[in-house]
Amino acid sequence: MDDDGARRLRSSRFYDTRSQVSVARNGHMYALGLPPGALRSGRPVIGIANSASDLNPCNAHLGDLADHVKAGVWEAGGIPLVFPTISLGETNMLPTTMLFRNLMSMDVEEMLRASPIDGVVLLGGCDKTTPAQLMGAASVDLPTLMMTGGPMLTGQFRGEDLGTGTTLREMADEVRAGSRPAEDFFASEMCYARSAGHCMVMGTASTMAGVAEALGMQLPGTSTIPAPETERKRTAHLVGRRIVEMVHEDLRISKILTRGAFENAVKVSAAMSGSTNAVLHLLAIAGRAGVRLELEDFDTWMREIPWLVNLRPAGQYYMSDLHRAGGLPVVMKRLGDLLATDALTVTGKTVAENVADAECYDDDVIRPAGRPLGVGQGTAVLRGNLAPDGAVIKQAAASERLMRHRGRAVVFDSIEQCEALIHHPDLDIDEDSVLVVRNVGPRGYPGMPEVANLPIPHKLLERGIDDLVRISDARMSGTAYGTVIQHVAPEAAAGGPLGLVRSGDWISVDVPGRTVTLEVGEAELARRDAERAEAPGVCHPEITRGYGRLYVDHVLQADQGADFDFLVGGSGPAPYGGDPHMLDEDELAHDLETAASAWELPEELRLSRKAAR
Ligand code: FES
Repeated sequence: MDDDGARRLRSSRFYDTRSQVSVARNGHMYALGLPPGALRSGRPVIGIANSASDLNPCNAHLGDLADHVKAGVWEAGGIPLVFPTISLGETNMLPTTMLFRNLMSMDVEEMLRASPIDGVVLLGGCDKTTPAQLMGAASVDLPTLMMTGGPMLTGQFRGEDLGTGTTLREMADEVRAGSRPAEDFFASEMCYARSAGHCMVMGTASTMAGVAEALGMQLPGTSTIPAPETERKRTAHLVGRRIVEMVHEDLRISKILTRGAFENAVKVSAAMSGSTNAVLHLLAIAGRAGVRLELEDFDTWMREIPWLVNLRPAGQYYMSDLHRAGGLPVVMKRLGDLLATDALTVTGKTVAENVADAECYDDDVIRPAGRPLGVGQGTAVLRGNLAPDGAVIKQAAASERLMRHRGRAVVFDSIEQCEALIHHPDLDIDEDSVLVVRNVGPRGYPGMPEVANLPIPHKLLERGIDDLVRISDARMSGTAYGTVIQHVAPEAAAGGPLGLVRSGDWISVDVPGRTVTLEVGEAELARRDAERAEAPGVCHPEITRGYGRLYVDHVLQADQGADFDFLVGGSGPAPYGGDPHMLDEDELAHDLETAASAWELPEELRLSRKAAR
């Protein structure tokens, strides 16, 4: 606070001092064409974290949106500064974008922490960009407003709707089963992406966009606006205006990311039949925000939630239909008191206030709460001697006949081994088998690739069998489906019991009872474990340096969100060590307190600097 009681902006401590270094800082910024005195005017400086990249076509339009956000910021009296971060293009990165989610979160965190900004707009969209930005921002705790880029238009191919990921898998299975010519399949590749934007089914990107809105981090009703629509540009303008107000209100992200906000996000995810990836991401975001959230909360909170949103892959429609029907405000209004409706949001209002006027325009796309597609069919958390720290299954994507099942394991030690052998005519597998693949967890692969929906052998597909119980320590794409038990923790590469299963063992699964059991006695498991300890598996010994090494050494297990152990919690907005350039500013620093307290330095450090003078 200044003497007159006004809150001093973070940016003004950097730019608006009478010091040599502030002349250098302001002088360089005039290269951007800022009007005279802009950074000494007390206007909030708004960062716009832009994850646009040609290597991430889902986010390709975010530069255009950033221009509209900038216009809104200027109009509201702020100063917008766009900056790039790394971007994670789901279809363009190996082995998996999940390997780099934590890296992007660190990029965002360190840029926010090191830069003289008062508030930030996060522009993301493709699967991992949204959680990475929220994780980074939660660690810094500035006023923060997210705007995801919106879904792409629904694909069209010879009169058929095409859903990214989902239809691709269906068509590929049809080709393998001999019911569709391969030429059709390859011809469809030009027809999936009719525009920029993220996948338009209820995959991970759509789930995380909805989750961000349910958390209170997006303006109400905006997560579903299709990417190319003009409404999205108008919304970007409003986002620019609103973030300036949020700075004046000191509405920081920590006031929004409460346990109630996470409860809402989990429940809305269930009502959307969202991706299981949301489990990992929400655990990681909560960890950064210092909010208690455990794997068991997902099971508890999702049990009574009606499945309302009728979108592929589990349902029928696409994201543009969800928007046409009224979007997330309708979903949240229909969930009513099942949500923490008093949770604060970026509007400065509660969830209840935000959705009070929502109207539904298509009850088949967003079902009334009394006529849901199902109840309690969200993510279930299974435990047992095969997954002591938990595993998850997306119930809405699973086959009813397999929800209680007992079968003999067919085990592969790697995804490569599975792919090489799964279609072999002599493979001993039938419709009752339980397919197990290990060493594809957070450390094992590394990055926990989306391969948990393991392929169905050709010989079973030809017999019309299109689902098996599949168990692994990997993840499943939100656009995929099947009776897939995933995120098994601890993973095999971390010494989990998944590494002890042998082909021929009996495995029983009871999803309603929330158990997954390897029917092998404790003594035998102990004997196998002792054997394994003598020859521990090192999945990727070539990873000896760089970010990969950092990842393998520090990634947490799936039940903890696969964040890095050293990133849990936040750093706050103060830069590392303060402002070293201010130490030599005696002659020009007329306001000693201002100069030494650059960026909210801790009190004790401010005092020690005063004493040093
Ligand atoms: Fe980017 Fe699906 S590939 S959202």
